[in-house]
Amino acid sequence: MSDATSAVPVCIAGTGSYLPEKVLTNADIEKIVDTTDEWIVTRTGIRERRIAAEGEFTSHMATHAAEKALAQAGIAAEDIQLIIVATITPDTLTPATACYVQQRLGAFGAVAFDISAACSGFLYSMKIAKRLISDGAFENALIIGAEKLSSFVNWEDRNTCVLFGDGAGAAVLKKAGPGDGEILATEMGTDGRQTHLLNIPGGGSACPITTENADQRLATLAMLGKEVFKHAVTRMKQSAEKVIERSNLTADDIALVVPHQANLRIIDAIADRLDIPAERVFTNLQKYGNTSAAAVAIALDEANRSGAIKKGEHVVLVVFGAGLTWAAAAIRW
Ligand code: COA
Repeated sequence: MSDATSAVPVCIAGTGSYLPEKVLTNADIEKIVDTTDEWIVTRTGIRERRIAAEGEFTSHMATHAAEKALAQAGIAAEDIQLIIVATITPDTLTPATACYVQQRLGAFGAVAFDISAACSGFLYSMKIAKRLISDGAFENALIIGAEKLSSFVNWEDRNTCVLFGDGAGAAVLKKAGPGDGEILATEMGTDGRQTHLLNIPGGGSACPITTENADQRLATLAMLGKEVFKHAVTRMKQSAEKVIERSNLTADDIALVVPHQANLRIIDAIADRLDIPAERVFTNLQKYGNTSAAAVAIALDEANRSGAIKKGEHVVLVVFGAGLTWAAAAIRW
C-alpha cells in the first residue's frame, strides 16, 4: 500500500526521544547467559542497550519523548489533536498506552489510540497520521514509538535476550506551510503467512498465562532469527525503493537512510542493495539494541538533533518487524 505526494502537504515539525538511564552492556549479558561480547558484536553490531527502571513503563518513556518533540515543534500539548502510540509492549492490554500518554501530557483535546505493528509501528503511524492530516480530519498529530521490551524478553534465552532494549521516540506532524519540509511518500506492507517467525505466543486470548504454564515463559519474544533476517533484507530494500521512486528521486538524491535498528548486518545488506554508501546510513543500534517500534523514531531524532539531516535534504526511513510487517517513508526535511 502506498501513496504519492498528497494534495495537502504534511511535514515533520519536531522530533524527540528518550532512553532510560540504566545501561546493560554485552559484558553484563555475559554474566546472565552463555554468550560473549565478540559473538554479539560480530553477529549484530550491538554493544549495549538501555533498560527501563522499575516502575518506569512504556507510557512514561513515550511521554518524555513526546514532550521533547512538542517543544521542538513549538506546539503545546493541549493543541495536539491526534496521538498514536505504536507499541507491542503496552502498559496494559486496555486502555491503550496512548490514553496514558494523553493523561500525562494533559493533551485532552486529542484523540488517542495505539497501533500494533511491531517494529514497523512508527512508520505505520506516520502513514495513518499523514493521511488524516492531509484529508483535513486533524491539523496535527503526535506519533510515538515506545517499548519496554525488557519485560517481554526471556532473560534465559541467548538467541533473543542479547538483541533488545527499551526506549521511545516521537515526532509531531502538521500541515506543511511555505518553507516547511514534506513527507513525500509512504509505503507499508504485511505478510501474515509469517506470523510464526517472530511473536510473543503467550499472554493473549490464544494462550493466557496460567499457573500451569507460568514456568514456560510464553509471554516472551520467540524468534526464528535466520528466517527473519532474510525477509528483513528483501522487504526493506523493496520498500525503500518504492518510496524513492514514488518521490521521483534516485538513490543518489538520498542524503540519509534511517533504517530500523535490528542488526548491523541487515542494515549493511540493505545499503549495499540500494547502492547507498555506509556514511549515508544512520545507525545507533550499537548503543540501544533493537527497541522495536521506538528504534527508527529514536534514530530519526538523533539524526535530526545531531545535524546529520539538514533542511531541504531527502531522508528515507525504512523498517521491518513481526507480522511480518514493513514500511518506508521518503521525506524532504
Ligand atoms: N551467543 C552465543 N551464541 C549464540 C547466541 C548468543 N547470544 N545466540 C545464538 N547463538 C548460537 C546458536 O545457539 C547457534 O548455535 P549452533 O549453531 O551450535 O546451533 C548459533 O549461534 C546460531 O548461529 P547463526 O544461526 O549462524 O546465527 P546468525 O548469524 O543467524 O545470527 C541472529 C543470529 C539472531 C543475530 C540473526 O539471525 C539475526 O539478527 N536475525 C534477525 C533477527 C532480528 O532482527 N529480529 C528482529 C526483527 S525486527
